[in-house]
Amino acid sequence: MPTVYLKSHELYDKMTQVLAENKGTILLKTSWFTNLDTLVTSDPTNVQHVMSSNYQRGSEFRKAFDFLGDAAFIKDLHEWREEKKFTHAFYKENQFHNSTPKIIHHTLEKGLIPVLDHSLHQNQVINLQNLFNRYMLDATCLLATGFDLGSLRVGFPKAPLLDAMDDMAEAVFFDIFCLKEFGGCKDGDYVSKKYENQETCEDFDVLRFYLSEAAGDSKKSIKHAEKTFLVANITTLLFAGRDTSGALLTWLFYLISTNPLVENKILEEIRQIISPPKHYIFYKAEELSKLVYLQSALTESLRLFPPVPVIIRDPIREDVLPSGHKVDQKTKIILCTYAMGRMPEIWGEDCGEFKPERWISGKGSSGVKHVASNSFLAFGRVHGLVRAEKWLLLE
Ligand code: HEM
Repeated sequence: MPTVYLKSHELYDKMTQVLAENKGTILLKTSWFTNLDTLVTSDPTNVQHVMSSNYQRGSEFRKAFDFLGDAAFIKDLHEWREEKKFTHAFYKENQFHNSTPKIIHHTLEKGLIPVLDHSLHQNQVINLQNLFNRYMLDATCLLATGFDLGSLRVGFPKAPLLDAMDDMAEAVFFDIFCLKEFGGCKDGDYVSKKYENQETCEDFDVLRFYLSEAAGDSKKSIKHAEKTFLVANITTLLFAGRDTSGALLTWLFYLISTNPLVENKILEEIRQIISPPKHYIFYKAEELSKLVYLQSALTESLRLFPPVPVIIRDPIREDVLPSGHKVDQKTKIILCTYAMGRMPEIWGEDCGEFKPERWISGKGSSGVKHVASNSFLAFGRVHGLVRAEKWLLLE
């Protein structure tokens, strides 16, 4: 444990090394301090077992994310299943799939392209992490609430919501204290605005979906119109959408900048497959799915730098893992997604290299390989509906 604290800046590399030296599973005995044992594993058989049987997010997880209040994301198994049915109904809606390309188009046109053009003309250096966080925050906010936060504009305007989210993310990482800024943040009152504008609003978004479902008369759906419930679930979406995809894009560009051959191949594929649009920035969503090499590069980036580097679960009852380790309700289980992406047993001896080619399926290089979630856990098991071909579109 002292090593873990001292090496927090390279925590996941250290975990990967220790796991590799211990057949993929270690049990940290910390009972003198917290009365909690922690089992860290990257063993695919353990991962498969934990993700498919009686394990849940648990009380510590709930504590770390307590600012999410009534959100489905932090609920225990039975409540969570109920809520998930409802959330999935949203992703199945055709309107959702129709509105996503519009949201991306809007965010590119109003935010990303003007900002990039400006910095090019001014010969400015820009912080890509800040750029992509703002890009994804605006896109996710539009998807969640129908409102454009406008945090990605020339000059990077001050965005209180962005700062509050950064503070909260840091607090969760260190799990020491939780800031409650979001509720008081003036950007955060989209829920009230939506109550007021419900009738006049034409576009499709998550808030509108919840409110329209609540117009039904069942007790369960009335709950979906309660402000605390709505704020909690919208906040979850903002975190889930911004941090993950913002981190992915940042790492992708880092990896491309250090691998010029990959950059050339991505550009070549775009030139060959995409018919030049009238205006150079707007591709059709259907055309994007033909960019197999680009999608492989994104997936390879997810393998090496998964935006969710660990997934945490609690056993509901005593259990023995396939590796033979005994766990009980007090054992915290950490599935180390980051270490799994760097295991030679899964990816081969070149697992440390950035090689999009490893994802291209053999026959005619026509598609991206599917790897089961017990070996490639970057999406956990929650993105069944939006994963595979669709997740790229969702970004
Ligand atoms: C690169 C992109 C993404 C990655 C790698 C990713 C990864 C993950 C992972 C690993 C989890 C499970 C966490 C756990 O079980 O503890 C999760 C949950 C979730 N993600 Fe994503 N995600 C991505 C993008 C998005 C986007 C764009 C959205 C929506 C705008 C989203 C919405 C959600 C939601 C709502 C949950 C919680 C579902 C539940 O309650 O079970 N994610 N994501």
